[in-house]
Amino acid sequence: MFENLKEQPADKILQLMEFYKADPRAEKIDLGVGVYKNAEGVTPVMRAVKAAEKKIWEEQSSKSYVGLAGDPAFADAMVDLVLGDAVERGQVAAAATPGGTGAVRQAFEMIRLANPEARIFVSDPTWPNHLSILKFMDMPVVTYRYFDSETGGVNFSGMMEDLGQLKQGDVVLLHGCCHNPTGANLDMAQWQEVVDCLLKAGAMPMIDIAYQGFGDGLDEDAAGTRLVASSVPECLIAASCSKNFGIYRERTGLLMAVSADAGKTKVAQGTLNFLNRQNYSFPPDHGARVVATILGDPALRADWAAELEETRLGMLELRKQLAGELARLTNSDRFAFLAEHRGMFSRLGTTPELVEKMREDSAIYMVGDSRMNIAGLNSQTVPILARAIVDAGV
Ligand code: LMR
Repeated sequence: MFENLKEQPADKILQLMEFYKADPRAEKIDLGVGVYKNAEGVTPVMRAVKAAEKKIWEEQSSKSYVGLAGDPAFADAMVDLVLGDAVERGQVAAAATPGGTGAVRQAFEMIRLANPEARIFVSDPTWPNHLSILKFMDMPVVTYRYFDSETGGVNFSGMMEDLGQLKQGDVVLLHGCCHNPTGANLDMAQWQEVVDCLLKAGAMPMIDIAYQGFGDGLDEDAAGTRLVASSVPECLIAASCSKNFGIYRERTGLLMAVSADAGKTKVAQGTLNFLNRQNYSFPPDHGARVVATILGDPALRADWAAELEETRLGMLELRKQLAGELARLTNSDRFAFLAEHRGMFSRLGTTPELVEKMREDSAIYMVGDSRMNIAGLNSQTVPILARAIVDAGV
C-alpha cells in the first residue's frame, strides 16, 4: 500500500531550520522558525515553568487520564487570561489541545461539522500552516488582502473591501495579535470595523492567538479578541501557550467556543470533547498543568509575567535598533515600519530572490516571504543584518 504514497510538500519554515543547521558558517544568523531566543541564542525554560514543574513533581500522585477536555483548571485559567471579563465563563466551551496548532485544527473540524459549506477567509499572507491544514481538509479558502508591502502596514481598505464578499455562515480567520508572518496589526478602531462587518454579514470569526504578551502586553494583546468575543453571537478562539510560556515541545493549547446564548455551550462542549476523542483522545497534560499551576499561584504568575515582559521589551528594543540602523544606512525612513510592528515577526517586504541572496552572501536565514524572527537577533547582530539588507539591495 505504501507504494501509493506521494512525496509530501516540505513545510517551508521547518525546512529552513534544517538548512540553517546544515550551514557550516560560524557567522550565520537564524531568523527563521518562531521560537524565542535570548541574546545568547538560547531558548530558556522560564523561571516560573521550572518552579511549577518542581511543584508538580513533588505533589503529583497519579498520571491517570484527566478528561477529554483536559484539566478544567487549565481551561478556567486560560479563558481568564485570554478573555478576561469580556464574556461570562458559562458562555465558553473549552478543550485543551496539542499546542495552538491542535486548537486550530480542532476549530476547523468543528466548523466543518457545523457548516460544511463555510468558506474560510484568511489574510494574505497568513501562517502557511493555516493554508496547509485547510487544503489537507479540503475546506474552501478565500484570501483577503492584509499587508501593504509599500508601507509595511495593514492594507485596511483592501481588507474591508475583500471582507465585503462575506456571506452568512462564512468564517473569518483573524490573528488575535502579533500577526504571523507580517507583524502588522489592527488597531482597536479597525477591530471594531471588522466586528461591524462580521455582524452585518452574519459571518463567524475564528481567532488564532499564539503570541499574547509578545506585542504590547498581556491585556493589550487580547483587547481585539475580547472585543470580538463580547460583540458577536459566536466565535472560536485558538490559543497557544507555546510562546508566552516557552513550552513549545509540551504542546499546550486551548480551543474556546464562545456563544452569546449560553444554552449553546453544552452542545459546543460536547462537540469539543467528541472531536478530541476522535483525533487523539485525551489531550497532553503536562504543559497544561504547568500553565494552570503558574496562573493559579500569585507569586509564580507575577514572576512569569515579569519574565514575559522582559522578553517583550527586549524584542521592542531590537526592533528600534534595527529600524534606527537602517535609517542611518539608507538615510531614509523606509524601514521605520519595523519599529511599529509587534510580536516576534516582521515582514521585510522583499522578494524571495533577495531573501535567497542574503542567505547566500551573508548567511542570514529568514523565511522566503521575507519574514524575520526578531528574537533571532541581538544587539551585535542587528548591524550585520541591517548591512546585509542594504547590500542585497532591498
Ligand atoms: C512559526 O510560525 O514559525 C511557528 O509558529 C512555528 C511553526 O510551527 O511554524
